[in-house]
Amino acid sequence: MAQIQPLRGTRDLLPEECRKIRHVEARALAIAKLYGFEEIETPMMEPVAVFKRSLGDTSDIVSKQMYLFKDLGGDEIVLRPEGTAGVARAFISEGLTQNLPLKLFYRGPMFRYERPQKGRYRQFYQVGVELLGVDKPQADVELIAMAQQFLGELKLQGDIRLHLNTIGDAESRATYRDRLRHYLETRKSELSQDSLTRLERNPLRILDSKDEGDKRVVADAPSLAESLNDLSRAFFDGVQEGLSTLGIPYFVDPLLVRGLDYYCHTVFEFTTNALGSQNAVLGGGRYDNLISDLGGPKTPGVGWASGVDRLSLMLQETPKDVAPVAVVPLGDEAEKEAVKLTHELRAAGIAVDVGYSGNMGKRMKRADKIGARCAVILGSEELAKGIVQVKWLGTGTQEQINRSELIGKLRT
Ligand code: HAM
Repeated sequence: MAQIQPLRGTRDLLPEECRKIRHVEARALAIAKLYGFEEIETPMMEPVAVFKRSLGDTSDIVSKQMYLFKDLGGDEIVLRPEGTAGVARAFISEGLTQNLPLKLFYRGPMFRYERPQKGRYRQFYQVGVELLGVDKPQADVELIAMAQQFLGELKLQGDIRLHLNTIGDAESRATYRDRLRHYLETRKSELSQDSLTRLERNPLRILDSKDEGDKRVVADAPSLAESLNDLSRAFFDGVQEGLSTLGIPYFVDPLLVRGLDYYCHTVFEFTTNALGSQNAVLGGGRYDNLISDLGGPKTPGVGWASGVDRLSLMLQETPKDVAPVAVVPLGDEAEKEAVKLTHELRAAGIAVDVGYSGNMGKRMKRADKIGARCAVILGSEELAKGIVQVKWLGTGTQEQINRSELIGKLRT
């Protein structure tokens, strides 16, 4: 019978990988608390409308990457491709509209039907934050500062760079869309098939096309900055001023537009040089119309999400669990006593690993392999005297300890 494999783009997180993923999530949660965010968990599946109405029909995610299916009751359901739309939906359906400003953190798996490669999966993990109810650039600056602190404290390989842009408010974007479309029409024959289909409905997305022909056309395109109205320009100035005040280095990338329709004003992305082509490790921006587009009251928002899988690939060191103590009994009598001792130690909050079987050599080897801090050796002589031998694996030194003092000793 053919062996059953995991679905393409999904993977089993074996213990070491799981440890890295959880470490990144734990760091994100700690930073979120530091900035006054509270955790929320929304369902992994949502009605399709949550994403269609927010991300936009022409976004890559909605047009070709959604895990969309009908359940047995005939409802159209999507495995969430991202977290923002679900949080906005929850904000409305849970009646949180009186609790502004609201600062929410989330983590968990997301699903996108993409071509899998290093750092890009069909089931991947995000941590994210959303700040609702603040329409000032100060909120954008605070969130970017938070992202920078989070990435900085993780100790990652390679260099991280912050790309920043504004896509202005709806009025500025409408002006720009017309100018851009007009220009692109004149170079239509040089555009890729993908860009031709975007030309009518979402020409802004052509700006961040990876196609070489598109890039040449885009190089001469009118700039979005020139179409910004005063309000949009002032907002972006506010964000840049705030970042400069905090000494956060950034680089204005006029071609950064991000792929989701809900954005307005600030968009940003942190990239790395350590991962090859999947170089975006964190992305976000402002979305002042998302909640009203989903049927809620007009409420500004800004947030970001970060790819935990990518960050875990970039950790300089694999995080370690608390080193356990290995209990090593010698002989049948000691074996029984070891079960009791193990139980006592665990009840006292000390992590213990037991080898279950094998001679002293085999058990000591296992103790080494799992990174135990010491082996507690128990033979018939020790049993008779009410003592144990403790061998500290780091230094190789051994000492004799009374059973009654063991817990105290292991706690220090
Ligand atoms: P996004 O840029 O689509 O934004 O995703 C955020 C991050 O998730 C990316 O920078 C990347 O690190 C990671 N990511 C995306 N797709 C994959 C994948 N297939 N495999 C592995 N990692 C991936 C959002 O999702 C927005 N909801 C961010 C946001 C929050 N904007 C405002 N609030």
